[in-house]
Amino acid sequence: MTSGPSDAELVRMALAAREQAYAPYSNFHVGAALLTRDGRVFTGCNVENASYGLTVCAERVALFKAVSEGSRTFTALAIAGPSDDYCRPCGACLQVMSEFAPELRVIMADRTGRFRSRTLLQLLPEAFSMVPGT
Ligand code: THU
Repeated sequence: MTSGPSDAELVRMALAAREQAYAPYSNFHVGAALLTRDGRVFTGCNVENASYGLTVCAERVALFKAVSEGSRTFTALAIAGPSDDYCRPCGACLQVMSEFAPELRVIMADRTGRFRSRTLLQLLPEAFSMVPGT
Protein backbone atom coordinates (compact mmCIF):
# COMPACT_ATOMS: atom_id res chain seq x y z
CA MET A 1 0.00 0.00 0.00
CA THR A 2 1.27 3.46 -0.95
CA SER A 3 1.30 6.15 1.73
CA GLY A 4 0.16 9.26 -0.08
CA PRO A 5 -0.25 12.84 1.04
CA SER A 6 -2.25 13.56 4.20
CA ASP A 7 -5.53 15.47 4.13
CA ALA A 8 -3.69 18.58 5.36
CA GLU A 9 -1.17 18.25 2.52
CA LEU A 10 -3.95 17.88 -0.05
CA VAL A 11 -5.59 21.02 1.36
CA ARG A 12 -2.28 22.88 1.02
CA MET A 13 -2.08 21.78 -2.64
CA ALA A 14 -5.67 22.93 -3.23
CA LEU A 15 -4.85 26.30 -1.67
CA ALA A 16 -1.79 26.61 -3.93
CA ALA A 17 -3.87 25.66 -7.00
CA ARG A 18 -6.37 28.36 -6.04
CA GLU A 19 -3.67 30.92 -6.82
CA GLN A 20 -4.11 30.05 -10.52
CA ALA A 21 -7.89 30.60 -10.50
CA TYR A 22 -9.17 32.67 -13.41
CA ALA A 23 -12.25 34.25 -11.85
CA PRO A 24 -12.53 37.89 -12.96
CA TYR A 25 -16.34 37.76 -12.97
CA SER A 26 -17.18 36.20 -9.61
CA ASN A 27 -13.87 36.92 -7.91
CA PHE A 28 -14.53 33.59 -6.14
CA HIS A 29 -11.22 31.75 -6.39
CA VAL A 30 -11.31 27.97 -5.92
CA GLY A 31 -8.58 25.32 -5.96
CA ALA A 32 -8.76 21.53 -5.94
CA ALA A 33 -6.33 18.66 -5.43
CA LEU A 34 -7.34 15.14 -6.47
CA LEU A 35 -5.52 12.08 -5.14
CA THR A 36 -5.32 8.92 -7.26
CA ARG A 37 -5.13 5.43 -5.75
CA ASP A 38 -1.48 5.16 -6.79
CA GLY A 39 -0.56 8.38 -4.99
CA ARG A 40 -0.54 10.93 -7.81
CA VAL A 41 -2.12 14.33 -7.29
CA PHE A 42 -3.87 16.36 -10.00
CA THR A 43 -4.73 19.96 -9.19
CA GLY A 44 -7.24 22.34 -10.72
CA CYS A 45 -8.67 25.83 -10.39
CA ASN A 46 -11.87 27.40 -11.65
CA VAL A 47 -11.68 28.89 -15.14
CA GLU A 48 -14.38 31.46 -15.92
CA ASN A 49 -15.54 32.89 -19.21
CA ALA A 50 -17.24 36.09 -20.36
CA SER A 51 -20.03 33.76 -21.47
CA TYR A 52 -20.63 32.79 -17.85
CA GLY A 53 -22.15 29.36 -18.46
CA LEU A 54 -18.90 28.13 -19.98
CA THR A 55 -17.14 28.42 -16.64
CA VAL A 56 -15.59 25.20 -15.34
CA CYS A 57 -15.21 24.53 -11.61
CA ALA A 58 -11.87 23.69 -10.01
CA GLU A 59 -12.96 20.15 -9.15
CA ARG A 60 -13.88 19.26 -12.72
CA VAL A 61 -10.67 20.78 -14.07
CA ALA A 62 -8.67 18.51 -11.71
CA LEU A 63 -10.78 15.49 -12.58
CA PHE A 64 -10.64 15.99 -16.33
CA LYS A 65 -6.89 16.58 -16.18
CA ALA A 66 -6.51 13.26 -14.36
CA VAL A 67 -8.77 11.27 -16.67
CA SER A 68 -7.13 12.76 -19.76
CA GLU A 69 -3.75 11.64 -18.40
CA GLY A 70 -4.95 8.08 -17.88
CA SER A 71 -5.93 8.10 -14.18
CA ARG A 72 -9.44 6.96 -13.28
CA THR A 73 -9.25 5.67 -9.73
CA PHE A 74 -9.44 8.31 -7.03
CA THR A 75 -9.47 8.22 -3.25
CA ALA A 76 -9.77 11.84 -2.10
CA LEU A 77 -10.41 15.34 -3.41
CA ALA A 78 -9.59 18.52 -1.49
CA ILE A 79 -11.34 21.79 -2.34
CA ALA A 80 -10.33 25.20 -1.03
CA GLY A 81 -12.40 28.32 -1.45
CA PRO A 82 -12.00 32.00 -0.61
CA SER A 83 -14.47 32.31 2.22
CA ASP A 84 -14.54 31.70 5.96
CA ASP A 85 -16.81 28.71 5.43
CA TYR A 86 -15.85 25.26 4.09
CA CYS A 87 -16.03 25.21 0.30
CA ARG A 88 -18.58 22.57 -0.70
CA PRO A 89 -18.62 21.24 -4.26
CA CYS A 90 -21.54 22.16 -6.51
CA GLY A 91 -24.04 19.51 -7.57
CA ALA A 92 -22.66 19.26 -11.10
CA CYS A 93 -19.19 18.45 -9.77
CA LEU A 94 -20.60 15.87 -7.34
CA GLN A 95 -22.26 14.08 -10.27
CA VAL A 96 -19.00 14.10 -12.26
CA MET A 97 -17.11 12.75 -9.22
CA SER A 98 -19.63 9.94 -8.80
CA GLU A 99 -18.99 8.79 -12.38
CA PHE A 100 -15.41 7.89 -11.55
CA ALA A 101 -15.21 7.58 -7.77
CA PRO A 102 -18.48 6.79 -5.97
CA GLU A 103 -16.49 6.10 -2.78
CA LEU A 104 -14.47 9.32 -2.90
CA ARG A 105 -13.67 11.26 0.25
CA VAL A 106 -14.28 14.98 -0.20
CA ILE A 107 -12.16 17.34 1.93
CA MET A 108 -13.63 20.83 2.13
CA ALA A 109 -11.45 23.74 3.24
CA ASP A 110 -11.91 27.41 3.96
CA ARG A 111 -9.49 30.12 2.92
CA THR A 112 -7.27 29.57 5.96
CA GLY A 113 -6.89 25.82 5.35
CA ARG A 114 -9.26 24.69 8.08
CA PHE A 115 -11.09 21.64 6.75
CA ARG A 116 -13.58 18.84 7.29
CA SER A 117 -14.30 15.77 5.20
CA ARG A 118 -17.37 13.88 4.06
CA THR A 119 -17.88 10.91 1.74
CA LEU A 120 -19.28 11.57 -1.71
CA LEU A 121 -22.17 9.30 -0.74
CA GLN A 122 -23.01 11.66 2.13
CA LEU A 123 -22.98 14.67 -0.19
CA LEU A 124 -24.82 12.99 -3.10
CA PRO A 125 -26.64 9.91 -1.82
CA GLU A 126 -28.79 9.31 -4.91
CA ALA A 127 -26.54 10.09 -7.86
CA PHE A 128 -27.85 9.61 -11.36
CA SER A 129 -26.70 6.39 -13.02
CA MET A 130 -27.73 4.65 -16.23
CA VAL A 131 -26.77 1.26 -14.77
CA PRO A 132 -29.63 -0.27 -12.76
CA GLY A 133 -28.82 -0.90 -9.11
CA THR A 134 -25.69 1.23 -8.94
N1 THU B 1 -16.83 27.06 -8.28
C1 THU B 1 -15.91 26.05 -8.23
O1 THU B 1 -14.82 26.16 -8.81
N2 THU B 1 -16.23 24.93 -7.54
C2 THU B 1 -17.41 24.73 -6.90
O2 THU B 1 -17.67 23.65 -6.39
C3 THU B 1 -18.38 25.82 -6.79
C4 THU B 1 -18.12 27.00 -7.64
C5 THU B 1 -16.49 28.27 -9.03
C6 THU B 1 -17.28 28.46 -10.28
C7 THU B 1 -17.23 29.97 -10.44
O3 THU B 1 -16.04 30.31 -11.13
C8 THU B 1 -17.13 30.50 -9.03
O4 THU B 1 -16.75 29.40 -8.22
C9 THU B 1 -18.43 31.09 -8.51
O5 THU B 1 -19.48 30.23 -8.69
